[in-house]
Amino acid sequence: MNFITRAMNGGMGWVEERAPGLMPFYRKHMSEYYAPKNFNLWYFFGALSMLVLVNQIVTGIFLTMQYKPSAAEAFASVEYIMRDVPGGWLIRYMHTTGASLFFIVIYLHMFRALIYGSYQKPRELVWLLGMLIFLTLMAEAFMGYVLPWGQMSYWGAQVIINLFGTIPVIGTGLTEWIRGDYLIADATLNRFFALHVVALPLVILLLVVLHLGALHEVGSNNPDGVDIKKNKDPVTHIPRDGIPFHPYYTVKDLFGACFFLTIAAFILFFIPNFFGIFLEPANFVPANPLVTPIPLEPVWYFMPYYMMLRSVPSFLGTQVWGVLVMGGAVLIMFGLPWFDRSPVKSIRYRPMLHKVMIGLFTLTFVLLGYLVTRPGTATLTWIARALTLFYFLFFLTMPVWSRMGSFKQVPDRVTTHD
Ligand code: HEM
Repeated sequence: MNFITRAMNGGMGWVEERAPGLMPFYRKHMSEYYAPKNFNLWYFFGALSMLVLVNQIVTGIFLTMQYKPSAAEAFASVEYIMRDVPGGWLIRYMHTTGASLFFIVIYLHMFRALIYGSYQKPRELVWLLGMLIFLTLMAEAFMGYVLPWGQMSYWGAQVIINLFGTIPVIGTGLTEWIRGDYLIADATLNRFFALHVVALPLVILLLVVLHLGALHEVGSNNPDGVDIKKNKDPVTHIPRDGIPFHPYYTVKDLFGACFFLTIAAFILFFIPNFFGIFLEPANFVPANPLVTPIPLEPVWYFMPYYMMLRSVPSFLGTQVWGVLVMGGAVLIMFGLPWFDRSPVKSIRYRPMLHKVMIGLFTLTFVLLGYLVTRPGTATLTWIARALTLFYFLFFLTMPVWSRMGSFKQVPDRVTTHD
């Protein structure tokens, strides 16, 4: 045994004596967590979400060192970070590009759950915790966008906070309470800063721990939707189709991370604003309460929901309906595990009808987002209304269509294509 191995064993023994629970924890979640051996590319996005989360936290800490959370200084402090702080531009772009990449990997991660029925029994709790992460992430991204105190920061906050004002009776009081003032002002920026930098990241971290804890209790689903726990070796009690998470999937995820980081670095160094999609041009202009930026539109990841809000007309003298539709569009996803009555999890063994429905749903979501970027005409509004209707019908009629069609025979063991 060489010196390094002896020192490492000695160190591990020392820790083991003082914290005997650590090794069993490591074994349960890493070296003896048996994951299905047929994970494909779609299974990269959970680990990538964790990677981006860490990036956001680390770059956020460094930004906080130079950022000034006051209406008078915020914009200038961000410019100072971009121009004068050594490496400041890189840290800021890692954070802003990171925010968009976060939503890209999260949307792909959720889409994977949709096509492989990963939310179905027994993983309903994993899905619900994921949805809570998604909601918190939306709030986190919204508040972060307000911090640079640019035109989009200010007017974005104006639009979103005013939505609460449409709630009957309590609306006006509620918006004042959120703003901490009669207008969006210093007090608003201060509290958004506190929530963005401390409160919400803590909530997200806690939810991620619970999300993974819940997943490891029941075990991972896989592209075949086969329950690997049903087929265990009688002697070792290890699932025949399972492989230890470490080293097999740690190495696979490391490869995925390298690939992802290469693409991320390309965007970061060559197109950090991504043609005005990741960072909108109007946000390079200081906030001006007297001039509304045109066009006034949210960052890309909120666009589909924003289009739904815009497409609903006011009725009975209130605009609350649009707000209800927009909120409902996110909340309805919580019910997915109960809407889907398909006897089969994975799309591989589902009827054509299911594939068509999921395909149309995806198209609807993308189209709704795209329509925000087009000039608002009456025809466009009607198209958006039709798409919004389909969005809701997809979920509400799922208990019916998810049982229809002829299902393929699900194999007993997972399939691999090697
Ligand atoms: C910060 C955000 C998130 C992180 C770090 C995260 C992390 C992970 C990881 C590491 C896994 C296991 C590996 C994998 O299956 O890819 C996983 C599984 C899963 N996640 Fe997430 N997740 C996040 C957000 C979400 C969201 C927003 C949803 C859905 C609303 C979601 C739903 C699921 C489901 C259903 C599984 C089980 C997948 C399966 O076994 O097939 N997650 N997550």
